[in-house]
Amino acid sequence: MTISSHVAPAPETTSPGLENTIASETILSHVDGAAGRLIVRGYDLDQISSWSFEALLVLLWKDLAPGQVTEADVQTALGQARAAAFHLVERLLPTIPHLSQVEALRFLLAALPDSQTVPHHVMAVAAVPVFAAAIARNAAGSAPVAPDASLGHTEDFLFMLHGTRPSEENVRALNTYLVTVADHGLNASTFAARVIASTKAGMFSSVIGALCALKGPLHGGAPGPVLDMLDAIGSEDNINAWLSASLARGERLMGFGHRIYRVRDPRADVLKQAVGLLRHGGGRIGFAEAVEAEALALLAEKKPLRPLQTNVEFYTALVLEAVGFPRESFTNVFAAGRMGGWTAHVLEQERLGKLIRPQSRYVGPQPSQL
Ligand code: COA
Repeated sequence: MTISSHVAPAPETTSPGLENTIASETILSHVDGAAGRLIVRGYDLDQISSWSFEALLVLLWKDLAPGQVTEADVQTALGQARAAAFHLVERLLPTIPHLSQVEALRFLLAALPDSQTVPHHVMAVAAVPVFAAAIARNAAGSAPVAPDASLGHTEDFLFMLHGTRPSEENVRALNTYLVTVADHGLNASTFAARVIASTKAGMFSSVIGALCALKGPLHGGAPGPVLDMLDAIGSEDNINAWLSASLARGERLMGFGHRIYRVRDPRADVLKQAVGLLRHGGGRIGFAEAVEAEALALLAEKKPLRPLQTNVEFYTALVLEAVGFPRESFTNVFAAGRMGGWTAHVLEQERLGKLIRPQSRYVGPQPSQL
């Protein structure tokens, strides 16, 4: 008896990376890769990039979760939840084994109990900066700094990182970053979150799965390597030689290329502008622009069939470095922003209530062939 006599034929598949496959409907965001446009619940990125992170959360969570209908509601709820999350830091940080910073974040998020009473979407967003700041300080040999619930979410993130009140311009730059990366269609980590949410595994399990997907260098792990690349290139007269040698070895240039965008990633320009507004960001930006220009020229020459443009990660690296994050923590800071989108997608998926369970096409041997 062959398998084919029992199993209905699988529908046509598209490609191994599910390119051009619509796997979900969402009201949350749309990435128009041909036009280089990102829409978040009816707003173009340019319209929201100066909003506070709390205001963006109001937009993302609207009608998907009860409570938190105003910016002030969200700020209060997040402040209280950050304080609660810090208890976990005090208890668990000393017990964390030797882990990278993103692994340590995964460890601490995994300790959030499903049984707790703080709404899980609020706790997930509140906990990441608390954990990420404490993990970064711990890696530098410093004690964690307790959150200040009276501060805005972004300001408190920098306060917990540095232990001093941050400048307004640094808060503005980080806020722009968190808002800009908060949601981006059905990217790999968001898809992972929705798959897990569809099994009714709960908010924390879903967003931890998303973090595990974000950690890869092809998704959220690129900004640290962008800085490594800038350091390795070192000077303007080495740009062409370094990039050419890297491409000749078949390597990918970090901060370039995107699955959906065939033109420039609109987030790159928003972040480039944000770093340009920082007094101390100017130091590296001229050099970074020179690297970017040369990389784009070489990619156009070496990969003529594939339009490869600057993506969000290139200028992310400069923003996060300028406001004082160590590069080992960059993925965790990305998670702090993207958690806004992940939680909204999980809420949306839970509301939909449909298990995600696609099919695979069996291409192995039939029993009769063995
Ligand atoms: N540098 C050099 N070549 C690149 C490249 C890059 N950054 N990104 C893609 N390519 C090339 C691939 O080598 C491949 O070339 P080939 O057809 O000659 O083999 C071609 O472009 C298509 O690559 P593919 O992996 O199929 O495209 P994708 O849509 O799956 O990849 C990314 C999207 C983001 C994974 C990819 O562009 C990449 O690895 N970028 C670098 C990492 C990065 O910046 N990640 C952050 C994303 S926001």
